[in-house]
Amino acid sequence: MLKVLNVVGARPNFMKIAPLQRAMQNQKDIFDAKIIHTGQHYDERMSKFFFDDLQLPKPDVFLGIGSGSHAVQTAKIMIEFEKVCLEQKPDIVVVVGDVNSTAACSMVASKLWIPVVHIEAGLRSFDRQMPEEINRMVTDAISDMLFVTEKSGLENLQREGVDPAKIHLVGNVMIDSLVYFLEKAKQSAILKEMDLSQQSYALCTLHRPSNVDDPKNFVNILNALEEIQKELKVIFPIHPRTEKNIKDLGLQDKVKAMKNLVLLPPTGYLDFLNLQANCKFVISDSGGIQEETTYLGIPCLTVRENTERPVTSEIGTNEIVGTDTRKILDSARLILDNKWKKGQVPPLWDGHTAERIVEVLKKKFYDR
Ligand code: UD1
Repeated sequence: MLKVLNVVGARPNFMKIAPLQRAMQNQKDIFDAKIIHTGQHYDERMSKFFFDDLQLPKPDVFLGIGSGSHAVQTAKIMIEFEKVCLEQKPDIVVVVGDVNSTAACSMVASKLWIPVVHIEAGLRSFDRQMPEEINRMVTDAISDMLFVTEKSGLENLQREGVDPAKIHLVGNVMIDSLVYFLEKAKQSAILKEMDLSQQSYALCTLHRPSNVDDPKNFVNILNALEEIQKELKVIFPIHPRTEKNIKDLGLQDKVKAMKNLVLLPPTGYLDFLNLQANCKFVISDSGGIQEETTYLGIPCLTVRENTERPVTSEIGTNEIVGTDTRKILDSARLILDNKWKKGQVPPLWDGHTAERIVEVLKKKFYDR
């Protein structure tokens, strides 16, 4: 048996591990897969709701790390995860994405000589002010196997001198979850509950420190939302960091004054998928939402200066618009006038990535 620790920590990890855990459970005679949750995200709405929606089994180990500065959070995860590795003696540690839990756990495993598998490897924004970029570089540099979602990831890793034998272009596990749950998501009651019809609203999410910790960028984006909500409802599930900053930066009155901007607590996975699938367009600074909208063919305005997922704007429905109010509004106008590009789904984003990964792992660690 291959003992695998599948690591999750923060919201965007859950939908990436779910299909992999399922694919491993389907081969129970080969894989003994355990879920380790660092507890980087701990609110019910940022964590438990996702386990429920994604039918993820309860974590086998919960580290309960919680919030803190980057150093504190990363260090605490390392201390606790080392104990887990020493006790469980896994054959493989799997990490996904680019959050602090990803970098912390890959470093621990790698120093214990446990093979590290990084899923969603090779993505680069080339912006080292993003904590995720540091996490991506560190994790990729020490991982033993790198599973890549898009061609740019392959090119980045090759340029960085990674041994080609370690790299596998397999597609996107997050899209596996989307494909698996889309029909179920469409039955979620959220549209009815919020009295929304198809294409009658825009969907917004913001949480990047560079946007919501920076008053200038935050106000620029809010100014754009102010104009957009005059034309159609804007649904805004609000991340804890963003909610806190609206208060801290004294922006409550500005937000409240927008009658057609609807704030709601972070939604679960299925509700959010349904909201995405039926909206006119999305405004977001998320990484994963650029990919989900590309798969769904929904226009997406990414309010950032760069992306680590260039395929979504090169062939998908995403566009990197920055945080200039005018630029956001010009793009929104094109969408509202039905002049947006159509977009294609990137190669291998077909719902079967986790199965491909499991086959590669089997060959490498089991059949040898
Ligand atoms: C983290 C990830 C980011 C990912 C995002 C999705 C890193 C460096 N960043 O950012 O890549 O896109 O998750 O949400 O790992 N908080 C709560 N409840 C929670 C979790 C967080 O209230 O369950 C609040 C706390 O005040 C915390 C703040 O949100 O200090 C930020 O949380 P943190 O995990 O540090 O980073 P995110 O901004 O969520």
